[in-house]
Amino acid sequence: VPARSAPFPLLRCALAAAALVLAAAGCSPPGSDRSAQEAVPIGGPFSLIDHTGARVTDQDLRGRPFVVYFGFTFCPDVCPLALNRLALALDELGPDAEQFQTVLVTIDPERDTPEQLALYVGNYGFPKNLIGLTGTPEDIQAVADAYRVHYKKIESPQTTAPYLMEHTSVLYLMDADGRFAGVFTHASTAQEIADGLRRHLAEG
Ligand code: NI
Repeated sequence: VPARSAPFPLLRCALAAAALVLAAAGCSPPGSDRSAQEAVPIGGPFSLIDHTGARVTDQDLRGRPFVVYFGFTFCPDVCPLALNRLALALDELGPDAEQFQTVLVTIDPERDTPEQLALYVGNYGFPKNLIGLTGTPEDIQAVADAYRVHYKKIESPQTTAPYLMEHTSVLYLMDADGRFAGVFTHASTAQEIADGLRRHLAEG
């Protein structure tokens, strides 16, 4: 069987995207040119609907740092992996985990209704305070653009689902003022994520 639905193309794509994000965000190796650092801001205002049906804006998330992931509930591989890594990292932090809000923004608003997100965010192995956000296709496109997240519908007769979504797979750490503070991927270990979150708290 040709490995068409294997996670590897998505993983490769995600890693390439993460490298681009790292470069864009100025997380370049020491000694490299820092002039591009402010070139591409990540994040921005949004107004979406959460998994309980309530409207949530970027302003509602102010006051404590949050980790946001863009994915979809029908994702067979990278989304559950990334969300589980984040949960394990938060477990590692112990009580400090409560200082971080965790957010999943769907890039598949067609299927990810608030009801569908409600079923998903409560999954065992996901962060305990995970909020699922959805919206109109236009709202989702706008927030994805703001976070430099790319996604594309993939219609494949070989998959059991009607379609899949190819998407950038990164975990963004945003600070208490909603500003970009770091990025992890589903390839980051739970330990690496936990270390990054701890560093953020220490920097205050
Ligand atoms: Ni996914």
